[in-house]
Amino acid sequence: MENSQKDVVILAIESSCDETAAAVVRNGREVLSNVISSQIALHTLYGGVVPEIASRKHIEKINQVIEEALTQAHMDLTEMDAIAVTYGPGLVGALLVGVAEAKAIAYAAGKPLIGVHHIEGHISANYIENRELEPPFLCLVVSGGHTHLVVVEDYGSYKIVGRTRDDAAGEAFDKVARAIGLGYPGGPKIEKISKEGNPEAIAFPRAKIEDHPYDFSFSGVKSAVLNYINGCQMKQIPIVQADVAASFQKAVTDVLIEHAMMAVEEFHMDKFAIAGGVASNSTLRNGMRDACEKKGVKFYYPSPILCTDNAAMIGTAAYYEYLAGRHDGWDLNAVPNLKLGER
Ligand code: KG4
Ligand code: ZN
Repeated sequence: MENSQKDVVILAIESSCDETAAAVVRNGREVLSNVISSQIALHTLYGGVVPEIASRKHIEKINQVIEEALTQAHMDLTEMDAIAVTYGPGLVGALLVGVAEAKAIAYAAGKPLIGVHHIEGHISANYIENRELEPPFLCLVVSGGHTHLVVVEDYGSYKIVGRTRDDAAGEAFDKVARAIGLGYPGGPKIEKISKEGNPEAIAFPRAKIEDHPYDFSFSGVKSAVLNYINGCQMKQIPIVQADVAASFQKAVTDVLIEHAMMAVEEFHMDKFAIAGGVASNSTLRNGMRDACEKKGVKFYYPSPILCTDNAAMIGTAAYYEYLAGRHDGWDLNAVPNLKLGER
């Protein structure tokens, strides 16, 4: 009993986009359950996430997913120390389902409520399988909605040193996949078909932003792919999907690696981590691993299932909020454009 009193067990809920997820996390880094109900198959019919459908599905699934998370952890609500939930950024209707559910559970069970920033969750996914990882480190967050280079100064303390000026990296994968007829979700489909393609086949641009070496721009490479396809169609040249995908993937990952390694040097970091859905891409992971090895920098990355949206990462981030004594009131609301480091 002594031990269990010292443990901090958190039930975490995530519903910011198209995954309904719940997890039970002990002491921040021990995942007792991590249940994810994906809506991908449903949204595939429409070629992308339809916000109203996402909210409706979250409502249908959320109780079931939470119950399953508690069952798999062999625990009940009374044993939780806090209820954590993603409250932004994300789709407002989708976020609201999780926030309302977390508030109801926390209120009914008399537990503290902790609102978590979704990107802070993605970054924190790195703590789960890397018990020795502690701030400070540099993290590249590459998801469907965000591309950020972040100095993680401490738990809960972030300095954004680079960001995308237009499309997020994952968004570019999704748009290009749609353009070359691969459909949704773009990232995994581009990664798969790229294995059969030549990454040097087409020279797509690698954008640089003057005076802001750590910022990104992916709308140019996306337009270049669209122009290339139009050009082929006009000249009646067949489009080799695998070559287009592999060349595009290489262009995006080259830029991500180059900017990240420049920032590692500039900010004197000896640890570097990647996070977010695109971080599950093996070309990016392998490229970053090699680049870090050359620089003598320790490289961290979550398992693919912890890169894409999940609630375990939210439970991990919430643990450090809990230790810092940060709780939220019953007025916690969904904030679709919440900035990292804001409360
Ligand atoms: O982090 P995430 O699950 O959700 C957001 O917070 O956005 O990221 C989803 C994004 C999508 O754009 C998806 O296409 C991309 O991550 N993604 C990938 C891969 N798996 C997911 N992009 C490239 N390669 C992958 N294997
Ligand atoms: Zn995400």
